[in-house]
Amino acid sequence: MIQLHDKYFTPYIKADSIDSTIKKMAAEIKADCGDEVPVFIGVLNGAFRFVADLMKHYNGDCEVQFIKMQSYEGTASKGTVLQQIGLNQDLSQRKVVILEDIIDTGNTLTEIYKLLENQGVDDFKIASLFFKPTAYTKEHSIHYIGFEIPDRFIVGYGLDYDGLGRNLSDIYQLKTTYMTNLVLFGPPGAGKGTQADVLKEKYNLVHISTGDVFRYNIKNKTDLGTLAKSYIDKGHLVPDEVTIKMLNAEVEKNPDANGFIFDGFPRTEAQAESLDRLLTEKGSQVNAMIALEVDDEILVSRLMERGKTSGRPDDANESVIRDRIAVYYKQTAVLKNYYQKQEKFIGVDGVGSIEEISIRLSEAIDSL
Ligand code: IMP
Ligand code: MG
Repeated sequence: MIQLHDKYFTPYIKADSIDSTIKKMAAEIKADCGDEVPVFIGVLNGAFRFVADLMKHYNGDCEVQFIKMQSYEGTASKGTVLQQIGLNQDLSQRKVVILEDIIDTGNTLTEIYKLLENQGVDDFKIASLFFKPTAYTKEHSIHYIGFEIPDRFIVGYGLDYDGLGRNLSDIYQLKTTYMTNLVLFGPPGAGKGTQADVLKEKYNLVHISTGDVFRYNIKNKTDLGTLAKSYIDKGHLVPDEVTIKMLNAEVEKNPDANGFIFDGFPRTEAQAESLDRLLTEKGSQVNAMIALEVDDEILVSRLMERGKTSGRPDDANESVIRDRIAVYYKQTAVLKNYYQKQEKFIGVDGVGSIEEISIRLSEAIDSL
């Protein structure tokens, strides 16, 4: 993912695929021109790279001229087209091929048709590296098309977003879906796991349980898992840097997710800051810290109840349970404060049926 001004773009078409497409276009044009020497007319600014590479692959004599038109500001067509540099060569007897980087609405193309007809050029063809058929509102023929693409805004290979991105060799597309990233908290016995399962289904989120991520990496002996284990074996804490790299790998494994539920991370303010950095790099952010709130006495009785059947030793003993709850509040206080300062803390009443609590959580998420 890359950032240009205020927007984020994700990889779309690789440079080598652009190159082989241009090679094919050059061969097609050559076949149609035969022994005649064509005049290529590049439409600036966007087409400069396309012109250069098409000529590189053109196997025969050819000439080149440029015209400059502009119809875009930001990421939407203004509808009006200005001609900024005109033609200064008699092309009435020549084979002309217009080289466009991209045809969107076709407004620019209309101007080009007018310009060439006014100048008495009657043998001309249009070649466009990219074409957006669903955005196209005109009837003019386009003779050579590199890629037909959906109506999305792209940058790279000569195409820009407000001046930037022309130097990129790959094509990137504007990222339009924004993620919902939640940090989920709840004391032991609050039903966090159950609710995370409901939320991930409902919102197409990926649940990243830090404990599971650690176990997965260690079990599968990934580089990061082996590194983490070396600290654990010595009785040391795994450095935040290692943990955040594991989380980053999980995030990158799921590029199509609508967002993530972070569970068991962050535990410290430094970790919260590094999570912010990780998501910022992805053009995203933590949208909310959601804490399930359940009265201590209810938690104690829930866990004691569970201990009767679960066989978990840490559920059976009331003082152990109270300790675990106390540790939770001690650890989360600083995070609650961190997210409260950013107005991202949301406390949700965690007493009631699973469905009732899910409804409260959904309301909180829908309000983001
Ligand atoms: P049209 O006149 O709507 O066909 O737009 C043509 C001009 O708009 C192109 O020459 C580009 O300069 C610009 N344009 C259209 N779509 C894109 C895009 O996806 N990325 C960058 N520029 C674009
Ligand atoms: Mg253009």
